[in-house]
Amino acid sequence: MKFKYTLLIALVIATMVLVGCGSSEPAAPTPHPGQALVETKCSTCHSIVQVNNAKYSREIWDTTVNKMVMAGLQITDEQKAQVIDYLAIRDSE
Ligand code: HEC
Repeated sequence: MKFKYTLLIALVIATMVLVGCGSSEPAAPTPHPGQALVETKCSTCHSIVQVNNAKYSREIWDTTVNKMVMAGLQITDEQKAQVIDYLAIRDSE
C-alpha cells in the first residue's frame, strides 16, 4: 500500500517535471497557413515537385495561381491570397 502511494507521488512529480520542461522550450515557429493549402491543393493535378521547383516573384505567383484556377483549381479568394503569400515569402528567402 505504502509502495503504491510512493509510486503515485513519483508519477505526479515526473509528470509535472515533464510538462514544465515542455513549456519552457522555445515555441516552434507557426507554419504559414498557406503551406498546408499548397500541400493539399497543389498536388492533385501535378506533383508538388512542380510547385517546389518553381521560384517566382509575388507577381508571377499571382499570375500562376490564377492560371491554375483557370485549369480547374478549387480555391476561395482567401485561400488563394494565403497560397500566393506563402509562395512569395518562400521564394524571397
Ligand atoms: C486543376 C488542376 C491543377 C491544380 C489544382 C493546380 N495546377 Fe498547377 N498546373 C496545372 C496544369 C495543367 C499545368 C501545366 C500547364 C501550364 O504550364 O500552364 C500546371 C503547371 C504548374 C506550374 C508550372 C508552370 C508554370 O506556369 O510555372 C506551376 C508552378 C504550378 N502549376 C503551380 C501550381 C500551384 C502553386 C497550385 C496550387 C495553388 C497548382 N499548380 C494547382 C494544373 C493544376
